Amino acid sequence: MRVLILGAGGHAQVVADILLRMQENGAPVAPIGYLDDNPTLKGQHFLELPVLGDVVRLVDIPHEAVIVAIGNNTIRQRLFESLRHQGEHFVTAQHPHAIIAPDVNIGIGSTICAGAIVNPGSVIGVNVILNTGSTVDHHNRIGDHVHIAPGTHLGGDVVIGEGALIGIGATVMPGCQIGAWSVIGAAALVHRNLPACVTAAGAPARVIKQHNHEGGVI
Ligand SMILES: CC(C)(COP(=O)(O)OP(=O)(O)OC[C@H]1O[C@@H](n2cnc3c(N)ncnc32)[C@H](O)[C@@H]1OP(=O)(O)O)[C@@H](O)C(=O)NCCC(=O)NCCS
Repeated sequence: MRVLILGAGGHAQVVADILLRMQENGAPVAPIGYLDDNPTLKGQHFLELPVLGDVVRLVDIPHEAVIVAIGNNTIRQRLFESLRHQGEHFVTAQHPHAIIAPDVNIGIGSTICAGAIVNPGSVIGVNVILNTGSTVDHHNRIGDHVHIAPGTHLGGDVVIGEGALIGIGATVMPGCQIGAWSVIGAAALVHRNLPACVTAAGAPARVIKQHNHEGGVI
């Protein structure tokens, strides 16, 4: 299955690495290159895969599946929804050194990085990033387009709303719920529920900003 990677930045190269390792391990995926609208990237190679041009070139390049490899949740959501509307098929990138309980359901187009752990009963939405070394304990519900940043730990029964970003090294205590499109600062400790569309930081985490879906401050 030929896979086009949407995006060619740092996160996209992590995704490429995961797909190549899956291929080495016998999975039926063959990454063929990146598409990115940044003109300075065109013609470059990362992990020996070429940047083939702008995202619109998707229609010209034979492929069976895509993955959106852009860190920003809003941009990743928009591109994912637009491609889904166009009938594209999405691959899920799961690093061979991620540990996922057998009953865990992972949505299409999600990326599970090296060292990530997901324990039983958890449900991971579509187009999610579980970044390097993050842990998602039992019976979590991780919404679509969420990014769980590197080294973040979620206790059992945590609920993360659609599009939320849980910053690098944060901890979310068991049973806590974080609303859609909220942003949790690096190294925060979330010890109680947080609403949608807020930025919270610190230990314990306190709301420092409210914003809209686009991330703009109200
Ligand atoms: C919390 C965060 C979103 C705030 O970013 P911002 O909206 O641009 O806010 P600012 O940088 O203007 O900071 C606002 C205040 O919060 C404080 N602050 C920022 N980040 C903080 C953090 N992680 N923990 C504690 N306080 C923080 C700032 O010192 C500042 O305090 P002040 O008003 O007393 O000076 C950001 O700093 C952060 O931690 N992002 C996480 C990034 C991440 O992990 N990405 C994943 C990459 S893989």
